[in-house]
Amino acid sequence: HQQLTPFPQGFMWGASTSAYQVEGAWNEEGKGPSVIDHAVFNAELSDFKVTSDHYHHLQEDIALFAELGLKTYRFSISWARLFPEGTGEINPLGVAFYQRLIDLLGQYHIEPLVTLYHFDLPWALQQQGGWSNPETIAAFEEYARTAFRLYGDRVKYWLTINEQNMMILKGEVIGTLPADTPDPQRALYQQNHHMMLAQARAMIACHQMLPTAKIGPAPNISCIYPATSRPEDVLAANNFSAIRNWLYLDLACFGRYNATAWSFLKEKGYLPQITDDEMALLRQGKPDFIAFNYYASATVGADSAKDKPESGAANRAVDQQMAGIDRSVYVGVDNPYLQKNQFNWYIDPLGFRITAREIYERYRLPLIVTENGLGAFDELASGNKIYDDYRIEYLRCHLEQLQQAISDGVEVMGYCPWSAIDLVSTHQGIGKRYGFIYVNRDEKDLKDLARFKKKSFFWYQQVIRSNGEDL
Ligand code: BG6
Repeated sequence: HQQLTPFPQGFMWGASTSAYQVEGAWNEEGKGPSVIDHAVFNAELSDFKVTSDHYHHLQEDIALFAELGLKTYRFSISWARLFPEGTGEINPLGVAFYQRLIDLLGQYHIEPLVTLYHFDLPWALQQQGGWSNPETIAAFEEYARTAFRLYGDRVKYWLTINEQNMMILKGEVIGTLPADTPDPQRALYQQNHHMMLAQARAMIACHQMLPTAKIGPAPNISCIYPATSRPEDVLAANNFSAIRNWLYLDLACFGRYNATAWSFLKEKGYLPQITDDEMALLRQGKPDFIAFNYYASATVGADSAKDKPESGAANRAVDQQMAGIDRSVYVGVDNPYLQKNQFNWYIDPLGFRITAREIYERYRLPLIVTENGLGAFDELASGNKIYDDYRIEYLRCHLEQLQQAISDGVEVMGYCPWSAIDLVSTHQGIGKRYGFIYVNRDEKDLKDLARFKKKSFFWYQQVIRSNGEDL
């Protein structure tokens, strides 16, 4: 565009975290265990017991977010902190913690954007089958209704489930499927169906209980490139996009299964059990906006894995996204046009614009970016300085493309990069840092957990101050 459309007035400049990655206090003040507390981690890396100890640094952290200038803060409620058993008895100290958090945000005029469920299913529910058990749907609705009742007077923006698509596609890594489940793929798509129903019920409840609030799903969406212009590769990319992206958003927004994804599930024998009443419920639950997380695009080809050996580590981000999908049908390939970060994740700002356009054209709902960011091994320099110019560069390029997308006509409500403050990554420890604020600890040595503002802190502060004019 020769002339860019400015970021809208009231744009929700924000930043994100999730409860289990930032709070710590994993077994304090009545919190029940979640699947995370029972997971087996790489022994060299940090576990999720203390993380950034946000639970005990609440005032300090929110004051820093205010200094950063955040208009919005995206955080998740730990379901097991509210309901230690997943359902039934509520934990008053857990209730009070989020009350304090939301009150503090109110004092600083920061709009809360609350994720109900970010990977940390209560362990008590998991023991009864987790998302394979249809009773978990009712437990989620009860939990969601409780959150709406407790916090709905101050929380106007809600997210249902974080990256449900990744929980299914990477079922064995961040999902909740027990390792010995027979027919795991079919079981995962049944779990997916249950999560969809749970989400629909939460959206319906939100609209009933809080008529002025807004709620939406928060999947991880990436545009998918074909390996070449060969029609077979284009078809493979199209198929993969249906299975990776549209299956989830079509169900959330249209209340129907994506036709391509459905035929894939049918052919593979992965079809979930579904009733007409359930499909009616899915049509009834409607999101007000679409939140999405974007880190990178993916590139796939049609050749089977055995014909075309992959290039190992370089392809890892795609591999991760592809896990769980039949590898003889879709093959992740390298994209020679893109750079990679220290963790071999591709960096693709233009893909961000393409992704935003694809989502908006398909659903015509306002979008909010709930994650985007760069994981890196930051170095603490003398004087407690962190010169994370690479992060600034990543975020700047992505924001430029977001503004291009806005100029293309995409309605974007806000941008919440990952993460507001350093926290423990899903699988790569605290050393893989994403925050604007450094947390002084190592994988094993908790040090003093002091907070230091990174160079990107001051950059983002100015971005927000100028409503995106000074990128
Ligand atoms: C998203 C998750 O998948 O990506 C976050 O919603 C996660 O929880 C983020 O931390 C970055 O991934 P990772 O694996 O580097 O922590």
